[in-house]
Amino acid sequence: MSSTVATSLAFDRVSMEFPGVKALDNVSFGVAGGSVHALVGENGAGKSTLLKILSGAYTPSDGTLQLDGQPRRFDGTSAAIEAGIAVIYQELHLVPEMSVAENLFLGHLPQRHGIVNRRELAAAARKQLEMIGESIDPWTKVGRLPLAQRQMVEIAKALTRGARVIAFDEPTSSLSDREVRRLFTIIRELKARGCAILYVSHRMEEIFELCDAITILRDGRHVESGPLAGFTRDKVVQRMVGRELANIYNYQPRPHAAPALAVEGLLGPGLTAPCSFSAAAGEILGFFGLVGAGRSELMRLIFGATPIAAGRVLLAGEPVKLAAPRHAIEAGIVLCPEDRKKEGIVPIRSVLENTNLSARRRHARGGILINEGWEQSNASLRAEQLRVKTPSLQQLIRNLSGGNQQKVILGRWLSENVKVILLDEPTRGIDVGAKSEIYAIMQDLARQGVCVIVVSSELPEVLGVSDRIAVMRQGVIAAVLDRADATEEKVLKLALPAETARAS
Ligand SMILES: Nc1ncnc2c1ncn2[C@@H]1O[C@H](COP(=O)(O)OP(=O)(O)OP(=O)(O)O)[C@@H](O)[C@H]1O
Ligand SMILES: [Mg+2]
Repeated sequence: MSSTVATSLAFDRVSMEFPGVKALDNVSFGVAGGSVHALVGENGAGKSTLLKILSGAYTPSDGTLQLDGQPRRFDGTSAAIEAGIAVIYQELHLVPEMSVAENLFLGHLPQRHGIVNRRELAAAARKQLEMIGESIDPWTKVGRLPLAQRQMVEIAKALTRGARVIAFDEPTSSLSDREVRRLFTIIRELKARGCAILYVSHRMEEIFELCDAITILRDGRHVESGPLAGFTRDKVVQRMVGRELANIYNYQPRPHAAPALAVEGLLGPGLTAPCSFSAAAGEILGFFGLVGAGRSELMRLIFGATPIAAGRVLLAGEPVKLAAPRHAIEAGIVLCPEDRKKEGIVPIRSVLENTNLSARRRHARGGILINEGWEQSNASLRAEQLRVKTPSLQQLIRNLSGGNQQKVILGRWLSENVKVILLDEPTRGIDVGAKSEIYAIMQDLARQGVCVIVVSSELPEVLGVSDRIAVMRQGVIAAVLDRADATEEKVLKLALPAETARAS
């Protein structure tokens, strides 16, 4: 486990075809042992597919994998695990109903005469968790852990199995800053032990902080590999998208009309004091805060998705019923949620249906018959507007890449007749090129008089797109700043918990 012999990994002319999609086309590159290798590319470029091949979940249509120079072929994931490979996926793969300990040792629980030795199991689990600095009770059900800790358990599990090649698929997208720091420390330790690490991310800062080398994919093809020292951010982005990206926020001041949305003394789960703010038609109001500051909770209350304890929401002076999201939607308030897996996507339905799901009733003939013409044209309009990468509108959404699924859900809400749109982390998991398109769409909506509320954990993004910035801290709105007054430093200071702010 603590050996420092380096293990190297290579992909040799790997191709992967799905019906109508060539996800990977003749991709070759190597990952040196004792290094962190970034794998980047636009949504749908083929990153997750490559990781699934590595994990043994997919067999490539062509080409091979090599470990320490030896060609290897895995029939299924257990063979890959056996060979020392671990892939930490975009969506985590633990069993939520089972305990941390059972998840860690799934498939090789310590047992005697078929009976699991619980004390031994707990001790082994504790030891494993300690190695990555976690002190979770081994008997906690995984489903009850916050996402960040689930991910830590997943990493501990990889180590339990003695993994030497570890791949991470966008591991930080739901982590707080502190958790990201922890993860990076662990990754650096794995690197020092000689592991070959493949790191998929859309966040350039992370890549330049953590990685030693980089491989860029575009449309399933290998564009370039090399030591990261030979790259600048601009060069990476340019190679990824195949064009120059100037000023991605492209902020244009807009005239604001009358106040549209007024939130008065709203209180409910996740909030620690009544929250009040207002936003005008044609305005973009950003919400910044650390993970857990109560931003998503506030949005869900405004949308009627969680029961309120006190307060009210007014739209153009009229109180909005907050009993259920359907009232909010009828009034013209929609929420594009943060957790698309849980709240957004119907995996076994097509791109077309997932796009039209919410707005289709308003367009149905006689209120009940599906309006095929509208369905087709709306779905293709949204797919085009958001550049959704899919072979057809009939494709099942679960076959789309993570970022493209996110775009379809955004398209669903753009199909509604919105007066207020609440966007919770709209660019999470979205590539840099598509991000600038989403920013442009937000500005368009505002120009059409929509009130746009955007929650984001990326400070440059909030500062780049918003007319005003509301900062949340520990379940309350700490302040609302005008764009002109909002510097990174000021906003961050407001977002930090009181003790931390005083200490620094
Ligand atoms: N099971 C599948 N069936 C059909 N097509 C698939 C399947 N899995 C992936 N694809 C397609 O293969 C291409 C590559 O997808 P992949 O998930 O590897 O992209 P990605 O680079 O991980 O993107 P993202 O940054 O959005 O996560 C996409 O066009 C996707 O729609
Ligand atoms: Mg992916």
